[in-house]
Amino acid sequence: MAFKERVFSGVQPTGNLHLGNYLGAITKFVALQDTYDCIYCVVDLHAITVWQDPPELKRTIREVTAAFIACGIDPKKQIIFNQSQVAEHAELAWVFNCVARLGWLNRMTQFKEKAGKDRENVSVGLYAYPNLMAADILVYRATHVPVGEDQKQHLELSRDIAQKFNVDFASSIASNGYGEQFFPLPEPIIQGPATRVMSLRDGSKKMSKSEPSDYSRINLTDDADTIAQKIRKAKTDPEALPSEEEGLKPRPEADNLVGIYAALNNTTKAAVLSEFGGAQFSTFKMALVDLSVAKLGPIGSEMKKLVQDPVYIDSILADGSARASTIAGETMKAVKDIVGFVRRS
Ligand code: TYM
Repeated sequence: MAFKERVFSGVQPTGNLHLGNYLGAITKFVALQDTYDCIYCVVDLHAITVWQDPPELKRTIREVTAAFIACGIDPKKQIIFNQSQVAEHAELAWVFNCVARLGWLNRMTQFKEKAGKDRENVSVGLYAYPNLMAADILVYRATHVPVGEDQKQHLELSRDIAQKFNVDFASSIASNGYGEQFFPLPEPIIQGPATRVMSLRDGSKKMSKSEPSDYSRINLTDDADTIAQKIRKAKTDPEALPSEEEGLKPRPEADNLVGIYAALNNTTKAAVLSEFGGAQFSTFKMALVDLSVAKLGPIGSEMKKLVQDPVYIDSILADGSARASTIAGETMKAVKDIVGFVRRS
């Protein structure tokens, strides 16, 4: 069955947005808006699966919204909103809690990493998080989901949930006039040279909002001096850059910086190496500083300007939420019919 093509993705309002979020996800969001109807969500319900300070949560919801706009997403053409304003996300997540199997969630590596040894003490929400993520996507019956590499397993789970719902309720889907399959199986879009940006301090760890050292990441709001300092201090090895991509394989830090350069410059690692192969890191890092400051500087300044105007940001979120609610409401009505709930007509 053909579904209307639609893009959905989300970013958590927790801590600082960094280069990994930008290159792995937000640049893709911007590129896709020319060809698709897109819905971009600040996933605040996901954020509270771990403790959030309430005033800080409000601030970061607005900051992520500002980042979307500053990076170039058009809030008039596309939908930008925060998840908690559209109740259907939580409603569909409950239905999916009853579709997904415990064994499926037990396999989620991100939960294992986040819960660590303190498993008994983490929230139930953190465990059920992937079901909410499936609901985020499927409440809009979205077909394409741009994400970084770390979300791949969650996307596979979303597909499994969609598939099981379609199979379990096949006869009800048909008898209620919703065709053969109700949910599409959403496709992840994980492409380009920076789908997994690594820490600047350790090439074996993902760049992340929660890493204690700020030197491990470049934040979207870092100023030029801070960006320069972080890149200069980034861990490297003593060798010159190789001329071929093959030569990056045993060198995670070199691979990471070349990938960042390639993604920022909208090119490939091979093209970067044909320019910088044989160069010392001192030379390459100077070029990377210039490129990073040129690309990120204007975004950081625009974000800082936008967050000064919370009334404007809140109006974007209210408008986006109203438009998102219309689509989500239609899906939830159908889901209620399919599951067998009695609803107000
Ligand atoms: P979050 O908020 O951790 O990250 C937002 C996006 O940034 C990507 N990303 C990275 N990409 C490359 N390198 C990195 N080091 C890096 N760190 C983060 C993430 O892959 C993500 O695309 N569960 C999601 C949010 C979410 C969502 C959804 C996404 C909730 N519902 C529905 C898509 C569809 C998350 O925690 O992303």
